Amino acid sequence: MDSLAREAVDLLSQTYGRYEGHRAVHSKGTVCKGTFTAMPDAARLTRAAHMQGEPVQVTTRFSNGAGNPASPDFVQDGRGMATKFYLPDGSRTDIVALDLPCFFVRTPEDFIKFTRAGRRLPVINQPGPRLALYLATHREALRAVRAFLALKPPASYARVRYNGLHAFRWVDADGGERYVRYGWLPEAGVATISTGEAKHAGPDYLQQDIVDRLGREPVRFTLQVQLAGEGDSVADPTAVWPEERETLVVGTLELTELETGRDTGGDILVFDPTRVTDGIELTDDPIPRFRSQAYSVSVERRAGVSRPAELD
Ligand code: HEM
Repeated sequence: MDSLAREAVDLLSQTYGRYEGHRAVHSKGTVCKGTFTAMPDAARLTRAAHMQGEPVQVTTRFSNGAGNPASPDFVQDGRGMATKFYLPDGSRTDIVALDLPCFFVRTPEDFIKFTRAGRRLPVINQPGPRLALYLATHREALRAVRAFLALKPPASYARVRYNGLHAFRWVDADGGERYVRYGWLPEAGVATISTGEAKHAGPDYLQQDIVDRLGREPVRFTLQVQLAGEGDSVADPTAVWPEERETLVVGTLELTELETGRDTGGDILVFDPTRVTDGIELTDDPIPRFRSQAYSVSVERRAGVSRPAELD
């Protein structure tokens, strides 16, 4: 295991504290299940099994970014949406997304420096000299930092737009290649509330809301892909591609019920951006591979075992 990945998880745990049995970050969340159905444009662009149009089962976990499972939902934070697609041959593939337009860093080394400089992200509200110095020398981090600071409490996990941030190479049936980035668009529309309203709604309002919603009706998202154009960086998650790039809606996610019983009693649920499948490939972006190692460290600590690829 890469020692940098251990260092990253150590730093995250120093920031938030270490909580037995919980993820090092994104500790608080709710797991749901449903189906994903691809639209015809998907099969045109990739031969991946879940993109051919037949509905596939999914598990989606919504989460808050903090590493403290008791962190109230109203605290200023990023939100995550991690989705696992169960493919016909028994294998799985994941899309892991956040409510930011881009990421803070380009390299594992910068992740360590940035995390050391900033520690818990909300404190970048009062940047100390270390973070100011980091940002002065790493201008590429500014967009994500500004976006993070501007995040307002969501009205619901079902009313957030989540982005995959990394580029992936989609390979079609004839071997044709396109680079894409994922976005999950909420069918209910994007909506935020004030911090006062969120506090009034309570420390678990996001978890409760998703339970209530699923009790009433399915929660739906569409999957959008943005296609890279000439000169767009496919290896740098801090770089946003121009807005005018072509986007296509390639599928619909319909979550229908809670998936209880996950993450307990020996079940280990891990979402990993490097878990791709034939028709979807990684780029030279070093962050996904680093994340995969860091997620394994987190699993080792929360579950007490090495990550069992066949179980999650
Ligand atoms: C170097 C950068 C990063 C590091 C070191 C890191 C670290 C971690 C760790 C340790 C976990 C807990 C894993 C587990 O126990 O299963 C986690 C979860 C998560 N990360 Fe990251 N992360 C990074 C970048 C990202 C990016 C770029 C995204 C979004 C595109 C992201 C989205 C998430 C989400 C949504 C979860 C929760 C997954 C779940 O619900 O199980 N992370 N991250």
